[in-house]
Formats: sequence, structure tokens, C-alpha cells
Amino acid sequence: MNRRVTTLDVEALSAQYGRIRVVRDFSEQLVAGEVLAVLGPNGAGKSSLLGAIAGVVAGSGRVTVNGCEVGDLPAYRRVRAGLALVPEVRGNLFPTLTIRQNLSVPRVGADGSGSREERIDLVLTLFPRLNQMLDRTCSALSGGEQQMVAIGMALMADPVALMLDEPSQGLAPAVLLDVSAAVRRLAETGLSIMVTEQNHAFAADMADRYLVLNGGATTGRGTAADLSDREALAAAYLGEGA
Ligand SMILES: Nc1ncnc2c1ncn2[C@@H]1O[C@H](COP(=O)(O)OP(=O)(O)OP(=O)(O)O)[C@@H](O)[C@H]1O
Ligand SMILES: [Mg+2]
Repeated sequence: MNRRVTTLDVEALSAQYGRIRVVRDFSEQLVAGEVLAVLGPNGAGKSSLLGAIAGVVAGSGRVTVNGCEVGDLPAYRRVRAGLALVPEVRGNLFPTLTIRQNLSVPRVGADGSGSREERIDLVLTLFPRLNQMLDRTCSALSGGEQQMVAIGMALMADPVALMLDEPSQGLAPAVLLDVSAAVRRLAETGLSIMVTEQNHAFAADMADRYLVLNGGATTGRGTAADLSDREALAAAYLGEGA
């Protein structure tokens, strides 16, 4: 893996609902194996940003995945190009299906090739807890287990860039450790990961660097080490570090 390869390149991206623009002029590059935390208060535009990159929220700007320009493509074509989104509150899960059935929904491999069983094995290596409950209906799982299945579903397509929208929501501290460890392991395999969060300690466990989105604009940036520096973080939120 060449860690200097840019896997996700977002340039001058905006996101909007009707005529209301909620993210403005967002530009960022992720290289292989890098984890970027996108922090910011409620309503900052974090979910809209990920949605616009994934093509499920209207927007404009350039999105390039693995060298392939996808900004004008529908969401499913962006998935095929290697871009995966795990929406907020496990929004990609089918609650009445079992774990195994959920993992069987996505097309396997970005190009439609690859073995489903191999991908499922990878998900189970990442989240061994799911092994014993593959035939259990997802609505009967804990929030943490559902989050693991949701991430697993995104991984079935063998993405090069994974976007996670506030994975910590509603999860117990012990499960957060499972999720942050899985994110680090995935990054070590070369996946680029963009994760929105409001839990700074959890973000610090996963991220190489962070940026703050506030009012739809990037107001600051820093390294993971700065995440424990309250002053640096406050400056980033206030726009003094932009
Ligand atoms: N479907 C929608 N239609 C219209 N406006 C929306 C829609 N979804 C979000 N918004 C608005 O867009 C802005 C950004 O919302 P968004 O959900 O992206 O923020 P967020 O940073 O993800 O917040 P949270 O931390 O609460 O998840 C907010 O002002 C919100 O009210
Ligand atoms: Mg959100």
C-alpha cells in the first residue's frame, strides 16, 4: 500500500436542501490509510457533508475516488467507484432481516466481483461478536451490534474510502472501544476513513487528524494530539484555527 496515494479528493463541495446551502466550499483530501475526524456541533452540516460526498444529498463540487471523478454520478455509481457511507443511526440496516441477510444485500466488491463469503469473513474478523448471531434478526440486536452490522454492510463493497456518520451515537463505552479498534484496523489495511463525531475522546482514539465544521464551513483543523488540547479545540470551533 502506498500511503501517499490520494483515495478521496473533495474540492469546493457544497450541500443544499432546495435553495438553502448548509455546507459551503468544503475541500479535503484523504490518503490511503488515513482517518479524518469531522467534528462540529449539532446542525453544523456534518451529515449533509457526508451525504453530498456520497451523492444522497444534493450538492455541487468535485468528488474524486481513487482517481475517478464521481461528482456527477448517482450514489450507487459512487459506491461502485469505492466510496461507502454508513449513515447516522444505522440507517442502512434492514431491521427485519438477519445479520447474514443484511450482509447479503450489498453488491460485493466495488466492481461486482469478489466473494461474498470472503467479505463476510472479513467483517466477522473485525467484529467477532457477530459470529454467534449471524441468523439473528437485526431489530433484536443491541445498538452496538447494529452499528457493527451497518459498518459490515458498507465493507461488503470493498471500498477504498469509508465514511461513518457519528458511529458513537447511543453506544456504551465498551462498544466504542470495539468500534475505534475496528476503524484503526481498517485504516491499517489502507482504507481511508472520514468519521463525523461529537465525542472527542472517541475521535482521538481513531483519528490521525481532525477538522471542525461549524455553520457549514471548516473553521479549524488539527492533529489527533490536539484533540486533548482544549484550547486548540476551542479555537478550531471558534474559527481561530482555520
Ligand atoms: N432534509 C433536510 N431538509 C432541510 N434541511 C435539512 C435537512 N437535513 C438537515 N437539514 C439542515 O441542514 C443543516 C445541517 O444539518 P446536518 O444534519 O447536516 O447537521 P449535523 O452536523 O449532522 O448535525 P447533528 O450533529 O445533529 O447530526 C441544519 O440546519 C439542518 O436543519
Ligand atoms: Mg448528523
